[in-house]
Amino acid sequence: MRLLLLAAVLGIALAARVSYDGHKVLRVNPTDDQLALLMQFKNRPGFSFRNEPRRTGANLDIMVSPEQHAAFLSFLKEKNIGFHVLFDNIQTLIEAEDRRQRSMSKVPRAISFDQYYRYDEINSYLEELAAKYPNLVTLESIGKSYEGRDMVVIKISSGGSGTRPAILIDGGIHAREWIAPATALYVINQLVENNAANSALTDAVDWYILPVLNPDGYEYSHTEDRMWRKTVSVTPISGCPGVDGNRNFGFHWNEVGASDYPCYEDYAGEVAFSEIEARNLRDFALANKEQIKLYLTFHSYGGYLLYPWGYTSELPPDWHTLQELAADASLAHLNAGGDPFTIGSSTNVLYAAAGGSDDYMKGVAGIELSYTAELTDTYYGFQLPAELINETVTRFFESVRVFGSYVKENF
Ligand code: ARG
Ligand code: ZN
Repeated sequence: MRLLLLAAVLGIALAARVSYDGHKVLRVNPTDDQLALLMQFKNRPGFSFRNEPRRTGANLDIMVSPEQHAAFLSFLKEKNIGFHVLFDNIQTLIEAEDRRQRSMSKVPRAISFDQYYRYDEINSYLEELAAKYPNLVTLESIGKSYEGRDMVVIKISSGGSGTRPAILIDGGIHAREWIAPATALYVINQLVENNAANSALTDAVDWYILPVLNPDGYEYSHTEDRMWRKTVSVTPISGCPGVDGNRNFGFHWNEVGASDYPCYEDYAGEVAFSEIEARNLRDFALANKEQIKLYLTFHSYGGYLLYPWGYTSELPPDWHTLQELAADASLAHLNAGGDPFTIGSSTNVLYAAAGGSDDYMKGVAGIELSYTAELTDTYYGFQLPAELINETVTRFFESVRVFGSYVKENF
């Protein structure tokens, strides 16, 4: 009782929290043939493919439960597939995150980029900005999530009454990719609170930013299951909630790289746009599609800048423009001390997966410039330590600057 009370006071959920004790992450660098062999493990209980690159030479990180570990090692050995152990026990990373979270002062202080904020904290910050910068900031709830949380878009506009070209950014469609909302928040912070230095980015372009696209999942990843990816909606299989939001958009929906089975991580949903979060974003984008010239959706991890299509290996006719702009953005990241991004169409450099928001924005909403940013790093993955948020977001802001200037100069 005491302990529970203490847990409640500290804001940690003790009882139901999923433990990843003994879960290892193995990194393999498979040939195409080996990748084909490995694919049979993809959705098996006890296995989680944290990424799934198809480009030969790229790493594949597989999380394995303690129960499956011995058998999987024999398999790798038998097939002569080389690997190394990236993490011996994922739970130790989770506990380190918890310790840091607890050590952070709860006394309200200015926003900082050395901790991950919860959904409520993020929204309080947005409200604070709206109150403090009424001439630059307005908030719009684009609807509620499945569990009733507001999905708040912050509109940053220095004038022009909606006639200026706009950039739409979202983060956190995948719950566990915490650096995504953090990066969106940093972009907001820089455009608003550091506007004096960044006014060139807001004097001719409007910004619509939705930092937490999957708020229920985001909260769930904080309180229940650090590795949660999906939404939390009820599915036809009890005990297997949630849809992969980035397989749920209605453009070549469920054609490839998605699953019909609710228990899988890449479950596409019963129908396209079954998820209210995907519908809300769709409706907002369609309502503003004349104005929005560029769409950026933040994910992690791996360091990719991806453009459509995810449903086919064919390239859009203007792929050259998409490629070049991404190359400029990547160069800015490099110049800021980051690693260059791997650039290409989703299908060609990562894997084919239909129903993504990026494909929908280009294919249906008609937003020509549409990108998925798989933010860095390539080691810690979803559990990028809070100490590394600052360098990650400041470097990526230099890429955002490039996207912003491009829209300013070309529309
Ligand atoms: N890691 C992302 C995902 O699996 C990549 C999405 C790329 N875009 C796409 N349409 N497949 O959702
Ligand atoms: Zn993702």
